[in-house]
Order: sequence, then structure tokens, then C-alpha cells
Amino acid sequence: MAYENILSDYQNGITTITINRPKKLNALNKDTIQELHDAFDEANNDPDTKVIIITGSGEKAFVAGADISEFADFSVEEGGQLAAQGQAILFDFVENLGTPVIAAVNGFALGGGLELAMSCHFRVASINARMGLPETSLGVIPGYGGTQRLPQLVGKGRAMEMIMTAGMIDANQALSYGLVNHVVEQAELLPLCEKIAGKIMRNSSVAIAEAIKSVNAGYKDGVNGFDTEIKSFGNCFGTEDFAEGTTAFLEKRKADFPGR
Ligand code: COA
Repeated sequence: MAYENILSDYQNGITTITINRPKKLNALNKDTIQELHDAFDEANNDPDTKVIIITGSGEKAFVAGADISEFADFSVEEGGQLAAQGQAILFDFVENLGTPVIAAVNGFALGGGLELAMSCHFRVASINARMGLPETSLGVIPGYGGTQRLPQLVGKGRAMEMIMTAGMIDANQALSYGLVNHVVEQAELLPLCEKIAGKIMRNSSVAIAEAIKSVNAGYKDGVNGFDTEIKSFGNCFGTEDFAEGTTAFLEKRKADFPGR
């Protein structure tokens, strides 16, 4: 599919999606959010794609937030709709994909940018990255899941402070908060994400999808994560991957998972 605001590139089991509006620091306008949805959907439905990496173009920004110019004159209803649609189309959608998604945070990840990174299954940052939820400095609050996912990742007190001060933290502080898993030089960012993707790809993609579902279940209202885990665990026993994984172990060879 051809996109205007993003790039999507497949290589060796990895689809890398790059938000490509560097002059606007990759700010998320409506079209970009829709294109991201389409690209994630396409990659998730591609049996060859085992891992998705999302990053920003240029050396300065991952995503500097939702596009402020688009919502500056919105009404109460329009504001609510913007958050609801964005969450459904992109942020919840990404979090619940069966294909693992790694955020390669290559610079500013602010507002909707940090919310997008937090929707991914985990994050790796380059040393120049700066992260924050500056919405209260604009008279609004995070609307793409930031008030929920930030406390889940860093704890309530730290999230409260970040949201109330609207300040930015650097990559090393994000690492110490557990907001990102690794910090590397910018040139090493995609190579490290690809190396981690390589490790993920050796394992059963069907089991990984069940694991994502189970981990996410613990964070959903009214859903019992342990029950989800029991069901997902059981599901694995009906897959070709399980037959291959256990047979390979018993035969003392490396598993070659069919991904079914
Ligand atoms: N929405 C729309 N446009 C944005 C944007 C956003 N969230 N973030 C940056 N841009 C645009 C700027 O308006 C500017 O466009 P212009 O060249 O047409 O004037 C361009 O991107 C470059 O940004 P600029 O502010 O000049 O870069 P900087 O290096 O001086 O500052 C930031 C970088 C990230 C600190 C600053 O851009 C910023 O604070 N952005 C908004 C962050 C934010 O509040 N996000 C939350 C939105 S809910």
C-alpha cells in the first residue's frame, strides 16, 4: 500500500514502520493515525512479518505529539471523539496486536508520541530521546491512553509528577523508571531492535500472540488475567508450533516453528 505520511519496509521477518513528517517532528495528524492503523494491520496480517518496529524519521523526533494545529478549535464533543477514535484506531489497536511491536524511540516522544510508544509491547530508546506528557501545559490531558499506561509502566507517583509538571525526562531517567528497556547511541538503535527481534523470531509466533493476550488481560477492566492465561495456555496445546517445539526439544534439535 502507498502511504503519504509513513514508510513501511519489510526485511527478514521484520516490518519497520517509520513516521515520516520530519518537518513537523512527526506529529500525529488524522491522516497519519489512519495510515499507521492500515500499516500495522497490513503487517499484522502478513504471515512473513514476525516483529514490527515503529520509529520516527530524522534524528530529532520519534513523534512530538498529536498535531496541535488540528484540534486547537475543537468543541467538547469533538475533543471526546478525537480521543475515542484515536484510541480505537491506533493506540488500543497496537497494544492488542498479536505480532510483537517494538518502539524504537529515536528522539522526542511527547504527548501522543509517548502514548504511541507506550502502546507498543516494549520500548528501546536512543540516548538523545526525551519523553514526556506535556498536555497540561496546553490546557488538556493525555487522551490517547497516557493517564492509564504511564502509571502502569512507571508507577502512579512518577506518572502523576510527569503529567502535572508537563516536563520531559531523558533516556537514562526513562530507563531507570522502566519506561524503556534499553538505551543506546542513535546509530545503534535500529540494529539493537533488530537483534532483539531476531531473538523473538526464533520462538513460536502463535505462543507469543497468546502471551501478549494474557499479559494485556491483567490490565483490562473486568477481565481476569489468570483465567485468560489458563485459556491461552490450553490453546497452545492445539497448535502445530507446540507439537514442533516439544518434539524438537525431545529430539535435541532446534525447533522450526511453522507459525500455526
Ligand atoms: N503539533 C503540530 N506541530 C508540531 C508539533 C505538534 N505536536 N510539534 C512540533 N511541531 C512543528 C512545529 O510547529 C514546527 O513547525 P513549523 O516549522 O512549521 O513552525 C516544527 O514542528 C518544528 O518544531 P519546533 O518547535 O520549531 O522545534 P524545536 O526544536 O524548537 O522544539 C519541541 C521541539 C518538541 C520541544 C517542540 O516542537 C514542542 O514543544 N512541540 C509540541 C510538543 C507537545 O506539546 N506535544 C503534545 C501535543 S498534545
